[in-house]
Amino acid sequence: MAYTIALLPGDGTGPEVMREAVKVLTSVEDAFGVSFDREPYPAGGRYYLDTGAEWPDGAYESCKAADAILLGAVGLPEAVLPNGDLAGIGVLFGLRFGLDLYANVRPTKLYPNVRHKVHDGFKQVWDPGKVDFVIVRENTEGLYTPTRGYLDRGGVKELAIDSRVITRKGAERVIRFAFELAKTRKGAPGDAEHRVTCVDKSNVTAGCRLFRAVYDEVAAGYPAIRRDYAYIDAFLQWLVRSPESYDVAVTSNMFGDIATDLAAVLQGGLGMAAGGNVGAEHGMFEPIHGSAPKHAGKDVVNPIAMVLAAQMMLDWLGRKRGDRTLLQAADVVERAVESVLAEGRVLTYDLGGPAKCSDAGSAIANAVTRLAKKSP
Ligand code: IPM
Ligand code: MG
Repeated sequence: MAYTIALLPGDGTGPEVMREAVKVLTSVEDAFGVSFDREPYPAGGRYYLDTGAEWPDGAYESCKAADAILLGAVGLPEAVLPNGDLAGIGVLFGLRFGLDLYANVRPTKLYPNVRHKVHDGFKQVWDPGKVDFVIVRENTEGLYTPTRGYLDRGGVKELAIDSRVITRKGAERVIRFAFELAKTRKGAPGDAEHRVTCVDKSNVTAGCRLFRAVYDEVAAGYPAIRRDYAYIDAFLQWLVRSPESYDVAVTSNMFGDIATDLAAVLQGGLGMAAGGNVGAEHGMFEPIHGSAPKHAGKDVVNPIAMVLAAQMMLDWLGRKRGDRTLLQAADVVERAVESVLAEGRVLTYDLGGPAKCSDAGSAIANAVTRLAKKSP
């Protein structure tokens, strides 16, 4: 099968990690006989500085027409739009809102031989198997709804308002997504129970009360999955204290944004954290880290988050198209990452090793070739 993949490497270290993900996809092509037609587009802060636009005309339409989208990272501190937004965010939001990618799926899994970063970053407190949960973040409303503005009086900014919008439709579909995801998983590592935690602030906000009420309605249709509730503040400390009790958590947009950066600490840092932006029709996959301009061009950052984003893309596309080969490839890519981590010879600086970004990418690509031969 041939699939068209739109590639948006973006800014800073985005192009470096994207190169490694493409290396891994090339191994997948060779090993599994699939083909990925790559359609690269420049996008982000650099492109804006050079051209005055955040991405080329037609790039959005091409992303929409592609079978899937991979994004590196967008944004540079010096590239700011006249309205104060960072250039490149329009690309991210253009895709999330334009393609209605309502579920932002962010797995947190601590792989063997990776140290979480809660203490000094190099002590292993949890058995890796104890951190394996997914935060599903609503991705099209909440505090990200473009209902904001200023009150200017006499040229003075006197008031700024951001309104947080929670709708029944937005809540319902993302909560259902979380329950459907829970059906495909092994349950919480601590007790193997399938559980979807509703994370909100329903003790205070009206939107969260609606979110929780809709959660209860949806949950009623999934009697085999345990209901669980947490206020966002308490959730964050429970998550750090006992990550093994979580399986899937579902929450509104900005709570999810904040919670997933914290969660990344439990899996070895942002260099390990991947995410998928998924809607009914389209999917865009990205590492959750930013463009890290201070590391750009040095070939030092960890490409694993980007590689795992590509892995999520294979899994999503495989399920969507009923393509077992892609599902097998997704499994092999994850095992390739695991094997490189377990061997511990090619680790980037954030994981305590001296390897370069490109070395780590090549090691994973080679492991894909090796493991695919053994794959049934
Ligand atoms: C993320 C990022 C974005 C967000 C930024 C870059 C707008 O933090 O994907 O988590 O807030 O969604
Ligand atoms: Mg974020």
